[in-house]
Amino acid sequence: MPTPTPFRSIVPTDLKPSEWHPFMVGAVAPRPVAFASTIDATGNVNLSPYSFFNCFGSNPPILAFSPANRVRDNSQKHTLENLREVPEVVINICDYAMVEQMSLASTEYAKGVNEFVKAGFTEVASQQVRPPRVGQAPAAFECVVEQIIELGTNNGAGNLVICRVVLAHFREDIILPSGIGIDPHKLDAIARLGGDWYTRASGSSLFEVPKPNRNLGIGIDQLPEHIRNSDILTGNNLGRLANIEVQSMPSAEDVQAYRHEPLVTYTLQKYQTDPAQQRQELILLGKKILEEGRLQEAWKVLLLAGKEQVSLA
Ligand SMILES: Cc1cc2nc3c(=O)[nH]c(=O)nc-3n(C[C@H](O)[C@H](O)[C@H](O)COP(=O)(O)O)c2cc1C
Repeated sequence: MPTPTPFRSIVPTDLKPSEWHPFMVGAVAPRPVAFASTIDATGNVNLSPYSFFNCFGSNPPILAFSPANRVRDNSQKHTLENLREVPEVVINICDYAMVEQMSLASTEYAKGVNEFVKAGFTEVASQQVRPPRVGQAPAAFECVVEQIIELGTNNGAGNLVICRVVLAHFREDIILPSGIGIDPHKLDAIARLGGDWYTRASGSSLFEVPKPNRNLGIGIDQLPEHIRNSDILTGNNLGRLANIEVQSMPSAEDVQAYRHEPLVTYTLQKYQTDPAQQRQELILLGKKILEEGRLQEAWKVLLLAGKEQVSLA
């Protein structure tokens, strides 16, 4: 057994806020970015990114983000000042094509400076709220502000802005062919991590995990011992295997019949004089099949691996 990596445990108040912050935002990552467009009472537009952001319910549709008090002087962000004057915001979603301009818009320009202009974005008039949306954003949510909750009074304290979506805009090409929902490949979203790091949700960094609430999986505790305790199968492998419903498990006949699949037959023949090795090779094969997304077939091979000695006859 390899030595487990030790953990460092931290009480946040034992560190200076500037020391704690990199731990928190570095580990709570990646975070989506709310590119918030606001307006003050005299009509000056502001546009700033906020990665303390997420959605918190769909009915009613609630988004929330948090402009924190400036660490430098405990002053409040222009976005927050604007929201107190005009409690309306457009939350624009950033794709990879916008990331550098979005970052530029986070510059601490003086109050009243319009970051649409500084960062080169196009203002598109909103329909239900006063702040404009970003024409380049693949999705945008026109929101009314329901509540602002001060999370503290110190430098760096957050101010949770709870927003209700009243109208949303989705660029046609990001909508799934079914007409419901968003294609993540087309969205090409970015997200923020710690330091200067960002991630891009596209290409090989996207993967699917079947939702467990579609079926009542048997659970890891019900996996046969040779599967559960295998040092070849990973936690991800076990999680996927345990998501099978009991009635979908292959029957004993199906498992027996699977001996005649060419790769299984080959493995059984090659290692027929060494049952322990045969079992390991079958588990390796089952893992490979599982990682190709063939759950039923993986189960058959892995159940074969549990037999004392598998004969081809
Ligand atoms: C990707 C990104 C995410 C950010 N997230 C936050 C955040 O969640 N909260 C915050 O207070 N500042 C955040 N900032 C910094 C603000 O955008 C920055 O302070 C900005 O100047 C505020 O503008 P304003 O004063 O015009 O509202 C973020 C900056 C970037 C680039």
